[in-house]
Amino acid sequence: MLVLGQSRMGGHIIKNNLFLLPISLFRLNINLYFCSSLIFKNASSMIKRIFYILIALATVSCANDKSNETNTATNSEETKELTLYTHRHYDTDKEIFSAFEEQTGIKINVVKASADELIQKMETEGSQSPADVLITVDAGRLVRAKAKGILQSAESEVLQSTVPAYLKDADNNWFGLTKRARVIVYDKEKVSTEDLSTYEDLTNEKWNKKVLIRSSGNIYNQSLMASLIANLGPDNAKEWAAGMVNNFARDPKGNDRDQVKAILAGEGEVAIVNTYYLGKLLNSKDSMEVAAGQAVGVFFPNQEDRGAHINVSGIGLAKYAPHKENAIMFMEYLLSKDVQERFAEANYEYPVNPEAEQSDLLKSWGSFVEDKLPLNKLGELNKEAVIKFDEVNWK
Ligand code: FE2
Repeated sequence: MLVLGQSRMGGHIIKNNLFLLPISLFRLNINLYFCSSLIFKNASSMIKRIFYILIALATVSCANDKSNETNTATNSEETKELTLYTHRHYDTDKEIFSAFEEQTGIKINVVKASADELIQKMETEGSQSPADVLITVDAGRLVRAKAKGILQSAESEVLQSTVPAYLKDADNNWFGLTKRARVIVYDKEKVSTEDLSTYEDLTNEKWNKKVLIRSSGNIYNQSLMASLIANLGPDNAKEWAAGMVNNFARDPKGNDRDQVKAILAGEGEVAIVNTYYLGKLLNSKDSMEVAAGQAVGVFFPNQEDRGAHINVSGIGLAKYAPHKENAIMFMEYLLSKDVQERFAEANYEYPVNPEAEQSDLLKSWGSFVEDKLPLNKLGELNKEAVIKFDEVNWK
């Protein structure tokens, strides 16, 4: 939690004002009553009664005005903050958020949990949710968040013109924040790039018992499978998944980094992983991880046809955002050129803003053709992808 002071302070202001208000009104009433008693000493009781009713009405009206003033002041206090739900836990994020706070005076309340927990939390909280912005990974998950009704359209020219159409929701419920490619990495000693071509080619007999990839329960694989269903049709995609299972070097286990380590250990020769895990391995403090990163080369598949599979970490405006304007300002900030470059550099991902430059490591892997399938398709086909994986017994 970065900052909570502002809203608590605001709460104290309301409490103090509400506490003092009845006392001052009580004093005002007594004074008016006393003065009017002197003035109307000789007036009829009917006139006196009318006068006292008018005083009472004026007092109520005054009380309402005071109360409105208090609320207005409080609201303007509250607009200087926003609540961010994020699963990200990088130091760079903290620095980027602090810079935003300094520039705008808007405090960011950060709520961290796993991606699925945050979506569940927003769903449970409903209209009472304090969330203004959600950051999570994988288009499959972002589409799920939209389907659960926890996001809303962010009306922003900047967001709409910065993020390419295939990297955002058609209804502006979410936008790509950083981009990742799910590619083939290969053992540099045993495999030549001439042997590699497409995801489909990994089902070729020449790769029998040489292919490493994590389990089908992982959303990155589900999204890759969804892209194959969209591009090749359900039957061909299922055949691909069956061919992959047939060529597995071992039962799927571990995360993307573990597949690269398995190549170093000689358990397989090719693996499908997200590019940024290579960056993490190469920059690890663990020398074995660095060695694993160095043992493999990056190959972007399907360069002669649809391009390499792309996914995003993304950002969405919460359905019941109490600080909508601040939230949109924050989202625009995160997609600005400089911030995009810092985000991408820190996590070895590709920037979504086309004006942002890639880091040297990303440049070293070379430019490549991306599969520009609209990412919402990955979410829409997620269930079908899971079913197909089960049908071919991809563990
Ligand atoms: Fe990841």
